[in-house]
Amino acid sequence: MSDFTLQNVILVGGENSKTLGVTGEKIVPPGPGCVLDLKGRSCVYPGLINTHDHLQGNYRPPVGPKPGVFYLTWLPWDNDLKASDTFKERSRLNREDLYSLSGYKCLFSGVTTVNDHFPQKFNANILPTLPIRAILEYGLAHEASSYDLKWGDGLEVEHAKAIKNNWPFITHLAEGFDEEAMNGVNYLESRKILDDHCLFVHCIGFSDDDIKKVAKAGASVSWCGFSNKFMFNVTCKIRKMIEAGINVTIGTDSSATGSANLLEEMRYDRVLYRAMYGEDLPAEKIFTMVTANAAKAFRLDDRLGTLDEGKLADLLVIKAKRDDPFENLVGAEMEDIELLTLAGKPIYGELRFLDIFGGELPAGYTQITVGKRPMFVAGDPAGLYKTARSKIGFKKVLDFLPFEPE
Ligand SMILES: [Fe+2]
Repeated sequence: MSDFTLQNVILVGGENSKTLGVTGEKIVPPGPGCVLDLKGRSCVYPGLINTHDHLQGNYRPPVGPKPGVFYLTWLPWDNDLKASDTFKERSRLNREDLYSLSGYKCLFSGVTTVNDHFPQKFNANILPTLPIRAILEYGLAHEASSYDLKWGDGLEVEHAKAIKNNWPFITHLAEGFDEEAMNGVNYLESRKILDDHCLFVHCIGFSDDDIKKVAKAGASVSWCGFSNKFMFNVTCKIRKMIEAGINVTIGTDSSATGSANLLEEMRYDRVLYRAMYGEDLPAEKIFTMVTANAAKAFRLDDRLGTLDEGKLADLLVIKAKRDDPFENLVGAEMEDIELLTLAGKPIYGELRFLDIFGGELPAGYTQITVGKRPMFVAGDPAGLYKTARSKIGFKKVLDFLPFEPE
């Protein structure tokens, strides 16, 4: 891999500089190697981090409650999903197909790091094959309730693993409004599972007291506004969580209930916040939720989340269409992405960035057209899309893929 320098860029979330160097996997002071002048027309952000997804579940259309009603907990949704035509159709694809499609859901939305909320015994072999980084080191539970799906080795064991190895402990929590869901924080507290390793997903049933306890413990929350509204017609008390100082991050959940991808989720959550409180959630806050806060929640903030020298060179380059770089990110569409790198390796980008490879498309890459621009991409998403369509039996459109196979 060639080292390279991006010159005349708008750097967001890092040193006060217009230049950024990459050597090997890391961000370094600008040095030797290929120099690309972006002429002040592009913003460079840290690769985005999605703290909650289920990579086997990304399929369309979503499955939700009947019109006019909403769920009390996630459990009837799980039953509805498994009885749905969407699920039947999705079952024509194998696990590898679904994970690969999800890897590209991440890539085409600028996500370089994701958590696949699922036990490692099912995903550990497949996650390293994806074009982006899905974290492998975490303790988990499905949820802290008697009717949850019993993932992992049990709450205490999984949490102890997280503490011992300095991993996050990730679980859905309070995803609903029955007695058990609403007692989630107290239940975990009684088992001494409430600390800064914890990343709680959804939290729509949190009381004010729960919010205080979670803030005091230094735990993180994954806010999945789109999925919450779709299933429950309400999301968590997000303003109180932010005001309490909780480390808030953003998750898409799977597209079986959630947004198409993290770009849509950021836009949606901002609109949702305004509808709830009549005030704006600043774009800079949203940017922090999908970068530095998320890196902290995964306990990877020594490597990810900002563009500081020494960190991994996960770079998201987006066309500068708005004066404010944070507004530029929160308003971005898939078609605005110009380059994405993972630990210094370009995995998606406009052909002008092929200079990083010495001008030639390397083995293991293919070319697609996104928004009329030819783009290089790691792997063969067009081949994957075609194979998926032939297994499904018709020209299925998955809206998180921004291209048509040639
Ligand atoms: Fe989930």
